[in-house]
Amino acid sequence: MKKTLAVLEGDGIGPEITREGIKVLRTIEKKFDHEFVLEHAPFGAASYFDEGSPFPDKTKAICDHADAIIKGPVGLSVEETDKIPQESRPEVGAILPLRKRYNTSANYRPLRLPKSLASFSPLRDSVVGEGIDILMIRELVGGIYFGKKVEGTVTGMRYASDDCIYTAEQVRAIGKIAFEEAQRQGVRLTNVHKANVLATSRFWNAIIEDMASEYSDGEYVSMIVDNAAFQLVKNPTQFTGVMLLENMQGDILTDQAGGLLGSLGLMPSACIGPEKGYVEPAHGSAPDIAGQNIANPYSMIGSIAFLLDKCLDLKKESDAVWNAMFDILEKGYVTSELAGETTDKTNVLSTSDFGDMVVDILSNS
Ligand code: IPM
Ligand code: MN
Repeated sequence: MKKTLAVLEGDGIGPEITREGIKVLRTIEKKFDHEFVLEHAPFGAASYFDEGSPFPDKTKAICDHADAIIKGPVGLSVEETDKIPQESRPEVGAILPLRKRYNTSANYRPLRLPKSLASFSPLRDSVVGEGIDILMIRELVGGIYFGKKVEGTVTGMRYASDDCIYTAEQVRAIGKIAFEEAQRQGVRLTNVHKANVLATSRFWNAIIEDMASEYSDGEYVSMIVDNAAFQLVKNPTQFTGVMLLENMQGDILTDQAGGLLGSLGLMPSACIGPEKGYVEPAHGSAPDIAGQNIANPYSMIGSIAFLLDKCLDLKKESDAVWNAMFDILEKGYVTSELAGETTDKTNVLSTSDFGDMVVDILSNS
């Protein structure tokens, strides 16, 4: 297979973790006889300072032309960010426009915590049980993040509002993806909502529940988001399978999932649209540790695994990458943010050590 991939390294630790992801991708390319043409392009806060835009036209052209996009985390320190006008900050000026441009409505974020890795989690062993394996699917281009935003004054009174809108097409599109994923894996689907308060949630539920009868061979449950947040900590294994969430609720619960894993460094993600998708670690750019070769590249390498599966339909290659990473962690190796007081120092890997180890396992398996 020959594919062109845009590479947006981003800010902070972006370049160093992306380097490890690319190493892994090159190993897969060789081992499975593919050809990946990589085209690097600026994106994020540094891009604003260097190019005058966090998502410059030349980057858009490269992404338009690519089959899929690899994106690093974006954002600089608070002091640097303060120098950027609101509309050009990476969130509003780069990430949301990227999602909109390719209509990447399906965001996959896994909470994969096998029993062997339970020690990383703040949850007790008895709560982790035989392990947690949840795929959160978050709607990514609708809802309150994309609604009209107003900060105004009416008859001397200041106010602000954010519209939250979902169309039936948007709900059906993400519902289809979630039901099909649950069906493919043969697992339960949990639909998360806030229908006791929000009209958008009642609308969402009516459509999703209709679809549940079309996919009636699978197990389906529905849960209010605040209870889901509580249950995720108290009894996470009940969600084993797929969780479906709208944009903002999904933003919050996927970060909570990162907390349950013990590190957002353990959360890759894929954002998939009808024509193309991009992959990105779910965490930020950690400018405080940038350039030190200590960041955990798991989320980026896992994002490469997602790219192989969800963007290029290369499931076998994707599984090989996942297995290599779990192998490393199961052998007791960790990156520095996962190391505890009792961790043997020789088991603590740098960013590049971790990437090298994945490459070694892939090359020798
Ligand atoms: C995420 C991030 C983004 C979001 C921000 C940076 C716009 O928090 O990918 O979860 O809210 O979606
Ligand atoms: Mn978030």
